[in-house]
Amino acid sequence: MTAAWSHDPELKVQHLTMRFGGLTAIGDLSFDAGRKQITALIGPNGAGKTTVFNCITGFYKPTEGLIVHRHPGGQEFLLERMDDFRITRHSKVARTFQNIRLFGGMTVLENLMVAQHNVLMAASNWTVGGLFGSPRYRHKEAEAIERCKHWLNKTGLIDRADDPAADLPYGAQRRLEIARAMCTEPRLLCLDEPAAGLNPRESDELNKLLLSIRDEENVAILLIEHDMSVVMGISDHIVVLDYGRKISDGTPAEIKADPAVIRAYLGVDDEQEAPAAVQADIAKSIAEPPPPPLTIAKNARKPVIAKKRPEPVKHKGGRK
Ligand SMILES: Nc1ncnc2c1ncn2[C@@H]1O[C@H](COP(=O)(O)OP(=O)(O)OP(=O)(O)O)[C@@H](O)[C@H]1O
Ligand SMILES: [Mg+2]
Repeated sequence: MTAAWSHDPELKVQHLTMRFGGLTAIGDLSFDAGRKQITALIGPNGAGKTTVFNCITGFYKPTEGLIVHRHPGGQEFLLERMDDFRITRHSKVARTFQNIRLFGGMTVLENLMVAQHNVLMAASNWTVGGLFGSPRYRHKEAEAIERCKHWLNKTGLIDRADDPAADLPYGAQRRLEIARAMCTEPRLLCLDEPAAGLNPRESDELNKLLLSIRDEENVAILLIEHDMSVVMGISDHIVVLDYGRKISDGTPAEIKADPAVIRAYLGVDDEQEAPAAVQADIAKSIAEPPPPPLTIAKNARKPVIAKKRPEPVKHKGGRK
């Protein structure tokens, strides 16, 4: 029986291989991502998840394999042979990055307007129309601002629209990256560890945002994530990688019960069996990860969340 996501997939990855010299970062990987579904790509550190995104978005040219993005009208884009800017513009694929990449000195609103640069430049007849404020340009500009407002409201950033992006707290910067990707009106949204460094409340808000993007905007989401509360809570389909190879592919319930996944997270050899108690512990943490521990620093007045956040983006000169 064909899986639900393979009937009419948004994305088909077939026999994808990416080698860096002697290192095979991805080896013969095939999977489908369903339309209007959330497909999670999980696996231990170095499994090759970000490399898959880099191949899909044209940052790397794969050594072998096909990546087919299928639009609902029947149009197909062979991403492995397209330039990265054409992938965004024509195939409508958008992404966020594992380490936040915002324009820190620009305001929140400006970050979202930049994402619509192509549309505005086309409307301005490549600058002249924009300079003279042609009706077509003004109309497109008003539409672009409305789109920004829509995503600022959805991501809870409307009150910070005029603040520099670098001044936002870490969780808000993560949401701004998603809003910026959505302003390009993608059909396929690739999110690289959007919950990294978020606290449990922020992770919960992220879940709601991603579900609303899937359900209300009809966008297929490809999600790389280590936070199992996010992965198991919202994914329709999970693909598990280990050392660049696919070791499991199925629904969250199937993945939770797969011994190969438990072994990969434990880091034991195939022939070696982990003790039953340890396996049960790992299975439980995949199913229901515990909240990050609260630690009280010596003489501190407030509890400090022990989970380490990556550095948010900083001002690189420009406006304060
Ligand atoms: N440009 C590159 N040159 C050489 N090796 C690379 C390059 N990009 C990735 N790799 C290697 O490919 C492997 C997979 O890396 P990748 O970043 O895709 O892993 P990942 O699953 O995203 O890991 P993490 O969960 O830590 O982000 C690693 O061994 C990495 O060192
Ligand atoms: Mg990565």
